[in-house]
Amino acid sequence: MIPEEHKKALDSWQISARYWDKYRVLIAQIFTPLTSGLLEEAQIGIGQKVLDIGGGTGEPSLTISCRVGPTGSVTYTDPVAGMVEVAQAEAGTRGLTNIYFRQCSVDDLPFPDLLFDVAVGRLSAMFFADPVKAVREALRVIVENGYVSFVVWGPKEANPFFSTITDVIDRFMDVPPEGPDAPETFRFADPGKLAGILTKAGAKDVTERKLNFEIKAPISFEKFWRLRTEMSGTLREKMARLAPAQLPTVKQAVADAARRYFVSGTMNFPAEALIVSGRKPTV
Ligand SMILES: C[S@@+](CC[C@H](N)C(=O)[O-])C[C@H]1O[C@@H](n2cnc3c(N)ncnc32)[C@H](O)[C@@H]1O
Repeated sequence: MIPEEHKKALDSWQISARYWDKYRVLIAQIFTPLTSGLLEEAQIGIGQKVLDIGGGTGEPSLTISCRVGPTGSVTYTDPVAGMVEVAQAEAGTRGLTNIYFRQCSVDDLPFPDLLFDVAVGRLSAMFFADPVKAVREALRVIVENGYVSFVVWGPKEANPFFSTITDVIDRFMDVPPEGPDAPETFRFADPGKLAGILTKAGAKDVTERKLNFEIKAPISFEKFWRLRTEMSGTLREKMARLAPAQLPTVKQAVADAARRYFVSGTMNFPAEALIVSGRKPTV
C-alpha cells in the first residue's frame, strides 16, 4: 500500500510531467552536466544493460540509450504514468530501439536478481519513500561489483536556481519547517547523508563526488520565472496560496534577487550537486 503522503507526491509529479515535457529541450540543456557526471561516475559504456530509476521525462535514459549502443540497453522506470507516457513518446520520436519502459516504484522493482550491469537515478533519490529499501532493491537487480549511482542536489545556498524564488516567496507566507527526511529537493544535500544510506543498504566502495557546474541557457528572467513556477510542484502550490494582488510584488522581488544571474540575455546560475555511488558486494 502506498502511504497517503507519497501518493500525494506522485499526483504532483503527474501534473509536473506535462511541464517537464513542455520545457524538455531547455531542461536537457541545463542539466546535461548532471547526466555526464552520473554516466562517468557509474562508468557506463558500450554494451551495458542499465537500469534508470525515476527517469521522469526521459533522462538519463535517452542519453544512456545512445551511450550503450545497439549491443546494450536501458530500462527506464518511474511510478508516474504521465512521466512514462512522455518519455516513451520521446524515445519513439528519436527512433531508439534499445530502451524499455516499466511503470514502477523503486520500492518494488519488477525485475529478477542480477539482471542489470548498473543502476542509476538522476534527481530522483530525494523523493524515494524509503531510501534504504530503495537502494537494497537497486543492488538486488544488478550484478556483483555493478555500480549503483545517484545524482542529487547539494545545499540550497549553493543552488540559487532554486533558492532565489523560494526564499522570496517564503517571506510572503507561513511555511512550516520540513523534517530532515521530508522528500524534497535538498533532502540529501548534507555530505555523507546519501552515502550513509548506500552503506546501510549494503553497498561497498561508497563514494561521494561534489559536482560544481553552471545552470546556463540563453533565456530571459521571464522564461526562467515561467519554467520554475510551472515545473515545480512545491512552487505551484505556494503560488496558489498567494493572493492575486501579491503576485506582481513577489515576481518583482524575485526579479531583483535574480538580476545578477541574468546578464546580456543569458541565464547563468552557479550550481552544486553530489554524485553518490557504491558497488554490489560479491557473495
Ligand atoms: C526531479 S524528477 C527527475 C526526473 C528525471 N530523472 C530527470 O532528471 O529529469 C524526480 C522523479 O522521481 C520520480 N519518483 C518519485 N518517487 C519515486 C519512487 N518511489 N520510485 C522511483 N521514482 C520515483 C518522480 O516520478 C519523478 O519522475
